[in-house]
Amino acid sequence: MKLAVLTSGGDSAGMNAVVRAIVKIGILRGCETWIVREGYEGLVRGNTQAHAIHADLPADASALKCAHRGVPTNLTQNLRFGDGDLLRDGTGDHHHGRTLKGRYIVRVGWDDVRGWFAEGGTLIGTARSAAFRTPEGRLSAANNLIKEGIDALAVCGGDGSLTGADLFRSEWPSLVAQLLAQGMITEEQAEKHGHLKIVGLVGSIDNDMSMTDLTIGAPTALHRICEAIDNINSTAASHSRAFVLEVMGRHCGWLALLAGVSSGADFIFIPERPPQAMPGGTWEDEMCEAIQGHREAGKRKTIVIVAEGAQDADLQPIRAEYVKDVLTERLGLDTRVTTLGHTQRGGRPCAFDRILPTLQGEEAVKALLEATPDTPSYMIGVRENKITRVPLMEAVAMTRAVADAIGAKDFAKAMSMRDPEFYQ
Ligand code: F6P
Repeated sequence: MKLAVLTSGGDSAGMNAVVRAIVKIGILRGCETWIVREGYEGLVRGNTQAHAIHADLPADASALKCAHRGVPTNLTQNLRFGDGDLLRDGTGDHHHGRTLKGRYIVRVGWDDVRGWFAEGGTLIGTARSAAFRTPEGRLSAANNLIKEGIDALAVCGGDGSLTGADLFRSEWPSLVAQLLAQGMITEEQAEKHGHLKIVGLVGSIDNDMSMTDLTIGAPTALHRICEAIDNINSTAASHSRAFVLEVMGRHCGWLALLAGVSSGADFIFIPERPPQAMPGGTWEDEMCEAIQGHREAGKRKTIVIVAEGAQDADLQPIRAEYVKDVLTERLGLDTRVTTLGHTQRGGRPCAFDRILPTLQGEEAVKALLEATPDTPSYMIGVRENKITRVPLMEAVAMTRAVADAIGAKDFAKAMSMRDPEFYQ
C-alpha cells in the first residue's frame, strides 16, 4: 500500500505525532509512506517540479534500508524534515541546498519524522483549501495521487476536513473515469486505482467532534488555558480584580467548560448551555448574584470564562466586553478582558497529545490495510480510554446534528449528543 498523510484545517498540537505514527507504523507494516504538504491544497497542487526528490533515489529503496530496523530510512536524503527542520526553514521550501518548491507530495522514510513528537503545530503545513472544495480541485487532487501511485490517504483535521475526505472518496470512481476520459491517466492506472482508502484522525483543539471523547490537540490547548488562568489569578487577586477570559472552541464549549472547572472559575458561558434567566430576571442578574455571593464569601478575584461561541437563550452572542461592562457597572468590579487567542493553539504538545496520536495512528494504518471498497471510511476515535473506529460520516453527521440542535434552541438535545457527563 502506498500511504500518504496530510494535516488540514486549523493546526493542533499532536498533528506531528500523527504524521510520525502513520509514517513509522506504515513502514513497519510494509507500506510506502508519503506526506502531503499544506493539506488538501498540496494535494490539488501536486508535484510540478521535474526533479522529483524520490526520483533521485535508487530504484530499489532497500538500498536505503536502515540496518538495524530493516526499514527505509531517510528517504528525503538529508532534506531533514526531521528534528523540526521543515518548521525552522519558515517556508518548508529549502533544505541543505535541495528544494521542495513545487513539490507537495513527498515520499518520506523512518528518520524523516524523527523528533516530531515534541514539535507544536504541523511541520508538513496545513491550509483551509478553497481549491479542494471545487470539483476541478478534487479532480486535480485525484490525478496527483494517481500519478504518484498513492492508494491510501490518512487525513488529520476537524469535521470540515473529514467531510472533505469522505466526499473525495465517494466521488473517487467518477474522478477516475473523468481522468481516463481526458487522457490524464492510463487504463492500467484507472484499473489499479479504482478505490481510494481513506481514514480520518481528528485534530482539533476544540474537542467538537461527536463519537469520540477527545480530539488531538484539545488536552494541550486546555493545559495552555489553565496555565494562563493561573497567571491571571495572581494579578487578579493582587488587585482584587475581575477578569473575563475569552477562549477558543468555535461552536463548542468544551475548552471553556473544562478550563473553568480546572481553575475554579466563577462563571462560564458555553454555546451548548446558555445562561438561564432567573424567574422574572435576566442572565445578567444570575451572573451578578453568583459573583456577588463569591465576593461576600471572601474571594478577592473573579474569573469569568466566555467561550468564543457563547450565546444567550435567544442565540445572541455573549461578548466578553459586554460581560466586563456588566461586572463593572452592576458590581463595581475593576474588570479586564483577556482574549487568549492563538496562544491556546500553538506550542509543544502535552504527553497525552503524543500518546493519543500514536495509538490512533496505529489503528488508522490498520484500518487502511483492512479497507475494502465495501467498508466505510473510518474515523479513529477514543471512547472510555479505548481506541475506536467509527464510520466517518456518522461522526460528522452527529457533529452537525449538535450544531443544528443548538440552532434550533434545543439545548438539552445538544448537550446529550455532546457528552452528558460533562455538559449537565
Ligand atoms: O478550530 C480551531 C480554532 O482554533 C477555533 O477554536 C477558532 O475559532 C478557529 O480555529 C480560529 O481560526 P483561525 O486560526 O483561522 O483564525
